[in-house]
Amino acid sequence: MGVSADTRIGFGSCFNQEKSAEIWKAIGGSDLNGFLFLGDNIYASRNFSRAKLETAYSKASEVIPWDRLGPIQATWDDHDFGRNDGGADFSERLVSQRLFWQFFGPHMGVSQPASEGVYNSAIREIEGNQVQIIALDTRSFRGRLKPTLIRNTPGAERYVPNSDESQSMLGETQWAWLEDQVAVPADIRIIMSSIQVIAEGHGWERWGNLPHERDRLLELLKQRESSDLLLLSGDRHLGGVYQIEHGNERFIEVTSSGLNMAWSQSTEYLPNQVGTPIRENHYAVLVISQSGLERVTWHGDDGSQLSSFRFD
Ligand SMILES: [Fe+2]
Repeated sequence: MGVSADTRIGFGSCFNQEKSAEIWKAIGGSDLNGFLFLGDNIYASRNFSRAKLETAYSKASEVIPWDRLGPIQATWDDHDFGRNDGGADFSERLVSQRLFWQFFGPHMGVSQPASEGVYNSAIREIEGNQVQIIALDTRSFRGRLKPTLIRNTPGAERYVPNSDESQSMLGETQWAWLEDQVAVPADIRIIMSSIQVIAEGHGWERWGNLPHERDRLLELLKQRESSDLLLLSGDRHLGGVYQIEHGNERFIEVTSSGLNMAWSQSTEYLPNQVGTPIRENHYAVLVISQSGLERVTWHGDDGSQLSSFRFD
């Protein structure tokens, strides 16, 4: 018997099926036991049609090393939802929803758990820990965002906070489901949100676009059945770690975004960001040991390590 190896779970977002698929070779060779798709898993939001979305998924399917990933879990973001920055008012969303489940359902070993939306959760035993992974749907039920007055203003690039409390991020059905989920006993809870939850200081899509919903999420998470907690997000074409003190709890969010769509020209450095943003194409690996969450590493196209973060 060898020394017990820690479990490695990959995660990433923003894969454009029309661009290089090189990174999937590195991911396939990373000895993973799990992969979390955080959204923008394909790009089909320009002139949306069912046929376009189907073609995009089938192209992606040819390059994703399914049999090397281990158990997967997925949610979506706007580009696989079908409309850039889209929400509940996107009229074709049930078409994309059906294709999402056709694509991911067989690999996730589940069929669509709710009649509307792609939110889902699973519990895995990892290194003796009960690990609950909750994938949120921040698209299907999302209300109106408040557009910025002057696009690309730093901190208000597209949106400013909308104080209209009738606008939801998750919708009431998903909120009720999430309340049940966080009451389930677990040692570690991982929350997958396509858009960033606690990252502050930018005006792209984030939970802070609807501040009352962000507060509601953090309050609900504080009331969870006691467990370690980690937030994961995508969407931003950057990688990084964010930290915030909310009440008496410190929340940590890790973003892995840009499987082949990284924003290399970015000069962004946010106020609650820990360490240096990752601006190259990357995927990330979460390492879990018997004692719990150990570290995250980010890796480039060829698998080489770009950055790392260790949990306390
Ligand atoms: Fe996105």
